[in-house]
Parts: sequence; structure tokens; C-alpha cells
Amino acid sequence: MIPTVEWKNGVVRLLDQSRLPEHVEFLDCRDYRAVADAIRELKVRGAPAIGVTAALGVALGAQAVSATEFPAFAQALMPICDHLAVTRPTAVNLFWAIDRMKKKLASLSAQAVPAVKAALLAEAQAILDEDIALCKAMGKHGAELIANGQTVLTHCNAGALATAGYGTALGVIRAAWEQGKKIQVIADETRPVLQGARLTAWELMQDKIPVTLITDNMAGSLMRQGKIQLCVVGADRIAANGDVANKIGTYSVAVLAKAHGIPFYVAAPYSTIDLKTKTGADIPIEQRNSLEVTTIHGSHPIAPAGVAVYNPAFDVTPAELITGIITERGVFKPSELAKQFAS
Ligand code: MRU
Repeated sequence: MIPTVEWKNGVVRLLDQSRLPEHVEFLDCRDYRAVADAIRELKVRGAPAIGVTAALGVALGAQAVSATEFPAFAQALMPICDHLAVTRPTAVNLFWAIDRMKKKLASLSAQAVPAVKAALLAEAQAILDEDIALCKAMGKHGAELIANGQTVLTHCNAGALATAGYGTALGVIRAAWEQGKKIQVIADETRPVLQGARLTAWELMQDKIPVTLITDNMAGSLMRQGKIQLCVVGADRIAANGDVANKIGTYSVAVLAKAHGIPFYVAAPYSTIDLKTKTGADIPIEQRNSLEVTTIHGSHPIAPAGVAVYNPAFDVTPAELITGIITERGVFKPSELAKQFAS
């Protein structure tokens, strides 16, 4: 896979996901503001990828700070962190990654500023490398749940594109495929931004994993016909009680899966688990621009001008609809998560 995000010759290089699948283009962010804009505009998206990118954004911002003494340097880094933190509210990985960078900074107060800058960059790179390792571990645990010959439905894109590489939900699918299981994937197109059609279909085709694209309103009919044996999706934030915020439409898939007796799994690393948030009702849900709903790609209109629009980017799937949460430590019931990840 092409890297989603990387540090390259002093810039943060992103695969511009707003241009896929038509154009495979890279975006070089030369300052932290460009990194923040890229996150806000979905040029990079997916909870773990947002976290990794924000960490690299902090490291990039740090390189340009001119202060030569630690206290002034640390003070200058705070507005950079704040600027990156207000880009998107739902994926907790963003805040987790920025906090981790701040903790690293606090541990470096005895060092000279050039060494601090190098250590911050190393920390961001460690977050990136760790993210790929977490995805591979999730893949190993999750692949056990998929039997040879099964058809798996996924929603949005929780793949290599949504992480530093390999993917969460698609990592599970990828691992099952790598084990030689003959599986099929059904990808929901995922209105309104079409992450399923534009990104999941593209990513799976790159790896030659069989994928069939459907519109979101087709999932129930396929389930009723017995054409789907398992669902696996990613997550943007998991509350302490096991409720899961993920791309809008995930809740509908979970309800349909329950109605048809189909197992519904969520794959996510520890950086997506937010034990400070008690239930799904406490998770902030991002509201996005109405143009995402009323136009194709912001230009071609598909609705009358001036129509009222409701456009939440995420919904919450209650814990009781979730069969299991696939993590790097194993597969747990949503109710077991708080105990498992208490430390
Ligand atoms: O708005 P997006 O594209 O950032 O939303 C992405 C999702 O909802 C993913 O399913 C989630 O972040 C998990 S990615 C491994």
C-alpha cells in the first residue's frame, strides 16, 4: 500500500484522500496549519490516521519554533497543539495523540531545544509505527472470526487509508485473506462523502481482495437473502460502557445485523477507547457542511438550492448491538472493555 501519511524530507506528506480514486496525488504540508487544514478537509481521515497526522503536525510545528530556551519553546508549542485539536471533534485519537506529544514534551525539560525537537519528531514517528503494529495485532485476532468462504460487510473506510497502514476493520479482512481464506467483501458506499465507494473499494482492489460495492440502502436486502455472514467496522471513539461512535450509517447496519442474527464486530486500537467518556450520549458528534449532502464533490447539485440539511458525520451504536470489539489485546464484549483497558 502507498503510505497514508509519512514524514518526508522535513514535510508531512499525505496521500490526498479527497482526490481518490480518480487521482493518486500527494500533499506536502510544510507547516502545522497546512496539516490542520488537511485534517479538517478530509484530505487525511479515519480516526487513527488523524491521530498520527496530528502528532506529525505537532512535530512539524516544533521544528519551526525559534525559542532557544525550554520554557519559551514549550509555551510556543501549546497554541500549535490547540490549533490541531480543533480540527475535528469526534475521533478521540486526535486528542490522544496530541496529549501523548505534550507528555513527551514535559519529559524533556532538562534537554537543549534541538534535542527536544528531535525527540518530538521521534515520538510522532513512534506513534505512526505503533499504529501499524496495532493494526496487524487486531488483524491477527479478528481474522479468527472469519471463516473460509464467508462474505463480510463493512461500512465507511477503516483500512490502510484510515490508519498509518494495514487498517482496523480492513486489517481484519486483510489478515483473513492473507491466511488464504476465500472471502468476499461487501462495501457500503457510505453517503454522503462516499468513503466506501471511493476509498474502501479502491484499497481492496489494490490488494486484489474481492469487493462488491453497494449503496447504503441495499445492506438489509442482502442480509435478508443470506448473502452476508459477518459485519466489521471501525470506530472513532468507544465510550466506557462500550457504545461506539463511527461513520454515520453504522448504527443502521448494526440494527439490521441484529435483526438478521448476523455478528457485528468493531475493530479499534486502545487509542480509540475513551474511558473518560461514560456513554455514547457523551460523545461529541461532528456536524459537517450541507454541501456534502446537496452536491457531488461540492459542485454538481443533486438537491434544490436552499433545502434544509442535517449532516452529522457520525452516529453511535449502542453496546448491546455489538457482538465484540476486536483490539490489539484480543476480542472483548463491549461490557468487558473498561476492565481490560483500565491501565
Ligand atoms: O469522516 P471520516 O472519514 O474520518 O470517518 C472515518 C470513520 O468513521 C472510520 O470508520 C473510523 O475513523 C475508523 S478508521 C480505522
